[in-house]
Amino acid sequence: MNGKAELIIDNQRLELPTTIGSEGEVGIDISTLRDKTGAITLDPGYGNTGSCESAITFIDGEKGILQYRGYDIAELAAKSTFIETSYLLIYGELPTAAQLAEFSALLTDYQMLHEGLRFHFEGFPPTAHPMAILSAMINAASSYYPNMVSGKTRVERFPHHAARLISQVRTIAAFSYRKARGLPVIYPKTSLKYTANFLHMMFSLPNEDWTQNEDIVRALDLIFLLHADHEQNCSTSTVRMVASSRANLYASCSAGVCALWGPLHGGANQAVLEMLEEIHQEGDDGTRFLNDVKNKVGNRRLMGFGHRVYKNFDPRAVIIKEQCDKVLSQLHKSDPLLDIAKKLEEIALHDDYFISRKLYPNVDFYSGIIMRAIGIPMDMFTVMFAIGRMPGWIANFKEVLEDPHSRISRPRQIYTGPTLRSYTPLDTRG
Ligand SMILES: CC(C)(COP(=O)(O)OP(=O)(O)OC[C@H]1O[C@@H](n2cnc3c(N)ncnc32)[C@H](O)[C@@H]1OP(=O)(O)O)[C@@H](O)C(=O)NCCC(=O)NCCS
Repeated sequence: MNGKAELIIDNQRLELPTTIGSEGEVGIDISTLRDKTGAITLDPGYGNTGSCESAITFIDGEKGILQYRGYDIAELAAKSTFIETSYLLIYGELPTAAQLAEFSALLTDYQMLHEGLRFHFEGFPPTAHPMAILSAMINAASSYYPNMVSGKTRVERFPHHAARLISQVRTIAAFSYRKARGLPVIYPKTSLKYTANFLHMMFSLPNEDWTQNEDIVRALDLIFLLHADHEQNCSTSTVRMVASSRANLYASCSAGVCALWGPLHGGANQAVLEMLEEIHQEGDDGTRFLNDVKNKVGNRRLMGFGHRVYKNFDPRAVIIKEQCDKVLSQLHKSDPLLDIAKKLEEIALHDDYFISRKLYPNVDFYSGIIMRAIGIPMDMFTVMFAIGRMPGWIANFKEVLEDPHSRISRPRQIYTGPTLRSYTPLDTRG
């Protein structure tokens, strides 16, 4: 690529510059297209559209590569922790020992919710989905920290708000679980590290502490780390879009939670378990279900398979599959749903329908099974994803915040509705 692209439109030749990323990806800069030709690009689902330049995460979907700030996901999964990786994503470099200690201290300082905020939980009915509670509570938190909204302090206080959000998303998540089950809330413990503290708030009782199991803590920490960022996916793009309007960090991340909720995005891990349960209840071993999927009966999909970007394998799925086997054997759990999952995987990986469409297991296929084994209820699965994704959203928010050329995101459209017509009075309408 010579740094230029040419477009011919109605015999008019337009030269467009290209931008080459640090991993060699090419972007054709069409920012002058509409001005010069009156035309726009049309790319529903944005499969060919780069919405920004970003230095946070690199994905090569064809080769199954995922890197955070240049570090391979497998190396981070083997050597790092969720909190260290969160720092890396937000600030660009692995922390020194002093920086990590400072970051951890901020997380501890901010782990308690404002007592006023705690009362908001009372307003939710027991049927409330924890994702509804999570997004509402994150947004509500912004009203307790009004200095986040104004220009200069917004930048200066960013490290505090970032740490508060990473710390409190886990407290809010655990409180929402306790509330939905009519259990008393359990406050965080300063002595516990991030993920262990979360499990303590979920599963301790007022009269009995949850017993820490290192393998379980590590498995959940790994799930958080593997979900920590994934470049311009639906929720991250949403966070950036909201941030582009200069909305505050809490409002932007709350919108990210809403975008994550859907079953084609973060809701997929819950959808995987629902699918496995349904197959089990129908007395099927997965074979009948897969035939329905292939014949598109009721538009059924094999949840946990396929990805918009990964077209050969999802590198996170490879790591999490190994952890999944470890946790299940450690807990001596045999699970009929796991047997169905293994059967579905085995058939689908050798079936032409899935091979020809490049559909492979994604991270959600296995993470749901691990979370079920740990005892996390199904309606909390997407919340786990949100806890993990928080540093990625915050890192992307920071890029927008610090970009001197940032403009409000405002796509165009091709209008397909009626052309100009006259108003018909009510009594003459047919
Ligand atoms: C992730 C996902 C939304 C990506 O969608 P996409 O890139 O837009 O792919 P499309 O919806 O265009 O699908 C392309 C083809 O594969 C099929 N397909 C895609 N995912 C499928 C799945 N999980 N099961 C069965 N068929 C699937 C589509 O039906 C379509 O088939 P067709 O060519 O016969 O019409 C999609 O694969 C999906 O719905 N997966 C299940 C949900 C999931 O696990 N999401 C988590 C992602 S991390």
